[in-house]
Parts: sequence; structure tokens; C-alpha cells
Amino acid sequence: MIVEARSLFAEHIATRQAQLALALDACGYDELLIWSGAQITAFLDDYHYPFKPNPHFMSWLPLTRHEECWLQLRLGEKPVLYYYQPDDYWYAPPTDPESWWADQVEIKPLRKPLAARDVVSSSKAAIIGEVEDRRGVGDVSLNPQALINLLHLDRTRKTAWEVACIAAANKIAAIAHNAARDAYFAGASEFDIEMAYCQAARLQAHEMPYGSIVAINEHAATLHYQGKDRSAPTVRNAFLIDAGATCYGYAADITRTYSNSDGLFAQLLAGMDALEQRIVAGAIAGTDYRRLHLQAHAEIAALLKDLGVLKVSPEAAVAEGISATFLPHGLGHYLGLQTHDVAGLIDNQGEDLPRPQGHQFLRLTRVLEAGNILTIEPGVYFIDSLLAKLRESKHGVAVNWDLIEQLRPYGGIRVEDNILVGEGGNRNLTREAFAQL
Ligand code: GLY
Ligand code: MN
Ligand code: MN
Repeated sequence: MIVEARSLFAEHIATRQAQLALALDACGYDELLIWSGAQITAFLDDYHYPFKPNPHFMSWLPLTRHEECWLQLRLGEKPVLYYYQPDDYWYAPPTDPESWWADQVEIKPLRKPLAARDVVSSSKAAIIGEVEDRRGVGDVSLNPQALINLLHLDRTRKTAWEVACIAAANKIAAIAHNAARDAYFAGASEFDIEMAYCQAARLQAHEMPYGSIVAINEHAATLHYQGKDRSAPTVRNAFLIDAGATCYGYAADITRTYSNSDGLFAQLLAGMDALEQRIVAGAIAGTDYRRLHLQAHAEIAALLKDLGVLKVSPEAAVAEGISATFLPHGLGHYLGLQTHDVAGLIDNQGEDLPRPQGHQFLRLTRVLEAGNILTIEPGVYFIDSLLAKLRESKHGVAVNWDLIEQLRPYGGIRVEDNILVGEGGNRNLTREAFAQL
């Protein structure tokens, strides 16, 4: 599938060139240098942390493990890539460029790292990257915020190439999710489920877009639970897995929750799955994402009321902040080269777009545009520390604590899909991927 998508790459570069010309012009530059970055080693050691290139570099090139490269972009000219390929026998150097992407740039092979001063050619240049002064930045404008904002806004409108990469990442992740589900129901430990996931995705853990969240029972109440228990619990109530995949650096970010019961928790899970799809239906061009986030709170409060967990009206539960005990994170975020992708909190002029009062973790406050890709990920959790605070507050009477005791051993629920926004509709890339298996 992704090999066919390579035919979309030339058009992607043409789009980037047109976007860059406008952005450079608006900011008074005529040249941009993007540095891919350098590996980081542990203190007093030669151990390398997994390397992630500068995402601005990957937004031009499908090079996900290439350090010490410079991309030189000059108005009206073919991009020049200083391609770092050291003569090394300790580590395998990057392979030779492949024509499907390399034809879009002029390649200058590099055997040794190059300083910024050796690349820059204009007095009106800017550099984007984590570049230190000792690399000869001099007077060149480094990471100017106005230019970065414009390029970030461009990255919110996905090209056909980017859509194909994220759809392919969803396909890989869906295969791996099914393998993880099967491992869970076969009795595997969190650690062994993680192994099954990586094996099915054909990706190492460090090639995932984020640390997979593999949570059995109460562990699902920790939002970014990072442990991977080696022993399998004998009591198995529920399983939450939030895990993705990458394709040329583009991420999938998917969560599924499974239940071993057919009681209250199963009803809650079915309700969450249904409300997630209702919220997804509203993710179309022109919708303010803040409205979808508040819809999630209202729908979850209504579901908890219907099941008898809450004793107050959904309106009161949202207005008084009670729903935030059960949903203490944002509804979702932009998705792309970064799992929590850029420009979610600014408008098209680069001005801050505030979060609704009391919702400080929301990562997306924009009015949606066609071409945006984002997650919709409502959740409901039974988190001891937040429940204790609610119980002690004046709103403690709004909750049926016997039912909370029933639900605590299940940890929580999250349902997360990746959505491509269109005019008057959208594509659910995640459910499409599962349906194709
Ligand atoms: N996996 C992190 C998130 O869903 O945002
Ligand atoms: Mn997410
Ligand atoms: Mn996630």
C-alpha cells in the first residue's frame, strides 16, 4: 500500500515549496536551513538514546533515523540535502538515497558533520533545529517563532502523501491491536502483550510514536501507565491498550478497551463506544473542537447518570466540574509527525486560542479545517486520588459510591480513533483500518 503512496511524494514537495515561499516572504527571509539533529548520549557514557529527527526535517523528507543532515531551502530553487553518510564500521551508516524521494532534492553527500556557517548562503537566512552555538550559528536567525508558527499551521493541513502515511500507520496499528487483544484474552501479561504488539506491527518499541500503554485492570486508571508487568494477574476484569505505529515518521494513535464482564462496566464500555462515534460525526470543517470536548463531558455525564453512577443532571455535573473527575484529559489532539501534533492552540494569525475554563489539558482549541487529522478519545476512569477529592467535596453526595466500588477494579475506558476532517464529513482512518482486516 505505502509503495503506491510514494507516487504522491512529488506533489507533497511541491506543496511544501509553495507553502514555504509564502512563509519566508511573510517573515522577511529568503533561505531556510533545517538541521535533522544529532544523537544524544547518556551522561559519561557512550550509550545512545533512540534518535528522533527534527520533525520539520521529516515534514520534507521520509528520513526517520538520519542525523547530521542539513536541508537547504532557497526561494525558487530545488531543495539541497546534505546527506550524512559517515564512513563507519561501528554502526551501519544510512543506506544510499532512493530515487522516489531523492529525485525531489539535490543530494550532496557528507562524510563529516557540517556547521551551520558552512551551509548558509544568504544574509536573510533562518535556521530551524536544535542547533547549538558551537555549530556556527553566528548571527543567523535561529528558530524564529513567527516562521515556526506559519510552518506549523501548514502541517495541520495534510497533503495526500501525509494522509496515506497516517492511514498506513493505522493499518499497521490495527493489525497489532488485534494481536494484543488476542494475547490478553489468552491470559498474557502486560509485558507479553507488548511483545505481541511489537511483533505484529514489525516495529521495535522505540519505533513507536509513543510508549505503548498496556494496562490490565486498575492500571488503566493511570492515564499514561508505563509499567509492563511481567506476571499475568489471575483476576482479569478489563484491558486498555493505547498504542500506535509509524509510517515514514507519521503516527497512528489508537486506544481500545476490552471487558471480561457483561455487567455494569460492559454497559459503560458500550455506551462509551457509541458516544465516541457520535462525537466523531461532528468532527467536520467549521466545527470548534472545544465544542466537541464539551459535548464529550455532557455525554459522559449523561451516560453515568443513566447507569446510576451520578445522581445529578448531566448539565450540573459538567458545570460543577464533577465530570472532570471521570474525564481528566482533553478530548484529543492533532496527529501527524508528532503524536501530539503542532499548532493546536493557535489561530491562523498565530494568536493563542484559550481553553475553556477548567479544561487545562485540552490540546486542541481550533476551528477544524478540511485536511486536519486529529484524535477523538473520550475516556472515563476511576482514579483513586481524584475520587477521594470528589467524595470529600460538597459534590460527594452527587455520586453513588457503591457503584464506584464495583467499577474501580476495572480501571477505566478510553476509545480513540484517528479522523481526517473533510467538508461536511470525515474519514475515520482507524475504523477503516480495522474493517479492512
Ligand atoms: N497516546 C497518547 C494520547 O492518546 O494522547
Ligand atoms: Mn491521543
Ligand atoms: Mn493514545
